Amino acid sequence: GFHIGTAVAGGGHHESQPYPDPFTSDLPYRKVLGAEFGSVSAENQMKWEYVHPEQGRYNFGMADAIVRFARQHDQVVRGHTLLWHSQNPAWLEQGDFTPDQLRSILRDHIKTVVGRYKGRILQWDVANEIFTDTGELRTADNIWLRELGPGVIADAFRWAHEADPKAKLFFNDYGVESVNAKSDAYLALIKRLRAEHVPVDGFSAQAHLSIRYGFPGDLETNLKRFSALGLGTAITELDVRMDLPEGGVPTVAQLAQQADYYTRTLTACLNVKGCDSFTIWGFTDKYSWVPVFFQGEGAATVMWDDFSRKPAYYALRSTL
Ligand code: XIL
Repeated sequence: GFHIGTAVAGGGHHESQPYPDPFTSDLPYRKVLGAEFGSVSAENQMKWEYVHPEQGRYNFGMADAIVRFARQHDQVVRGHTLLWHSQNPAWLEQGDFTPDQLRSILRDHIKTVVGRYKGRILQWDVANEIFTDTGELRTADNIWLRELGPGVIADAFRWAHEADPKAKLFFNDYGVESVNAKSDAYLALIKRLRAEHVPVDGFSAQAHLSIRYGFPGDLETNLKRFSALGLGTAITELDVRMDLPEGGVPTVAQLAQQADYYTRTLTACLNVKGCDSFTIWGFTDKYSWVPVFFQGEGAATVMWDDFSRKPAYYALRSTL
């Protein structure tokens, strides 16, 4: 019942993306993807801008292909994501909609996307990154919270549940690995929603870590606060980046520290009842989002560009 997963690389790093879609074009990549993992998440291909590029038009090509691939390889799927401030299509963000229209747009989207994969998605990240680091709702930049108010969160979970009653419905965020203002905010919100019988099943930490900042040593303690409520927990987007030395090749010490962060994250999850999904955000540096988004950092995954394994890979294997 414990799933080790990866994000499936595909698009989205930038218009300047230097490679064609690896999921369809890189056969060695597909081979590792099918052989090494028990769970897959779409890195981008289930996000609004991908599946809903124009109002009233859906594009499920890549999402379907991933779900099909998963089935062929005996993998479960994590769905990502339904209510988020980022990677929304321009027609939505720049459209001129009344609150009533926006509500029905969100409802239709959730019903359509979740409904399409009914019975095939184990966990959905229903709400992604809805709190700031200080634990306030992101009302400034999240179109749904800004235009519809916080009540839309419960609606999103209810709609998703109606569309696929068996899918486990999650809150997902970064910077919530530790006990802090942001994870406190989730704990309080989830308690409130559960008291109102809103179908919330889980809380997950993305875990985009950097050896520059130190390991969140209270990860296990933090996740246990959520599992104590009877919630599922998960690690959903683990990567461990580092400052690349001149020349771009990490040092042996950096790689050892990275391996340590990977295994400590896995160990924390294994020690928490109900943490049965552990996903890394891509398995090869070849397609990692990290160098694109974090200037000067990289080498964040468990395999080199040619799929040869780093110490972190072997460290994870020996932890299992
Ligand atoms: C990232 C993808 O990896 C990139 O390809 C994309 O350009 C931007 O989004 N939190 C999330 C993920 O929930 O969806 C993000 O994925 C990384 C941070």
